[in-house]
Amino acid sequence: MGCNVPSGADAYGKLYPEKSSDGILRLGNIVPDFSAETTQGPMPSFHEWIGDSWAILFSHPADFTPVCTTEIGRLALKYDWLKERNCKVATLSIDPVDSHNAWLKDVVAHCENGISVEFPIIGDADRSISVKYNMFDPSNLDDTGLPLTIRAVFIIDPDKKLKLTLNYPASVGRNMDEICRCIEALQLSAKSSIATPANWPNNHESIGMKGSVFLLPTVTPEDAKEYFPDHKTCEVPSGKEYLRLVPTDKLP
Ligand code: BEZ
Repeated sequence: MGCNVPSGADAYGKLYPEKSSDGILRLGNIVPDFSAETTQGPMPSFHEWIGDSWAILFSHPADFTPVCTTEIGRLALKYDWLKERNCKVATLSIDPVDSHNAWLKDVVAHCENGISVEFPIIGDADRSISVKYNMFDPSNLDDTGLPLTIRAVFIIDPDKKLKLTLNYPASVGRNMDEICRCIEALQLSAKSSIATPANWPNNHESIGMKGSVFLLPTVTPEDAKEYFPDHKTCEVPSGKEYLRLVPTDKLP
């Protein structure tokens, strides 16, 4: 008989409602749809563009700035890896598409691996998308001084639900390995009753269980025994049996 223990996404879905009650975009919400101009032509609907895929929407503060130049190059190096995992990528700033296209030549020249940038870069010149996604305070809408979007990452599932966000200031470049790790962890918890520990997959090596994941607290001891016979419970002073590790290759 198959395993019908609810996945992480199902077990904790109620924590993350599809719609926020106060208009603030939060985890679990269906992300706002929009149309946009991009370096790959018009995008009439972000939701339709996502289709049945996972998606990353990745904003950068401004074209022709150093950290952003490295970020887009490093993200391009992950494009094939993400595509293999059914994950699309779109990036965005408030610069117009003409600026993005001119800047892309610099991005490619500065990335030593001879990349090509195969994802669309959205030109959010009227800042409407940036405001909808809280990357930009509406009070700065007409500010011509420092009109910078934050460095935001939105990871969206095929149901168009926001699964994870990262917000970085302009002064700190993002780590693309961490973004890929988040995709892997989210996809694993979307299909299994597990959660990934700190630093996963570099965890619990000292007890010979490197890369193992935790069974969710919602998995009953009976289900744990039946469906995850390879799990191991770590002993702790409280005597409570909640640290139940299972190797990912032993998940049903
Ligand atoms: C950068 O990408 O280097 C950057 C952009 C905006 C402000 C500061 C740095």
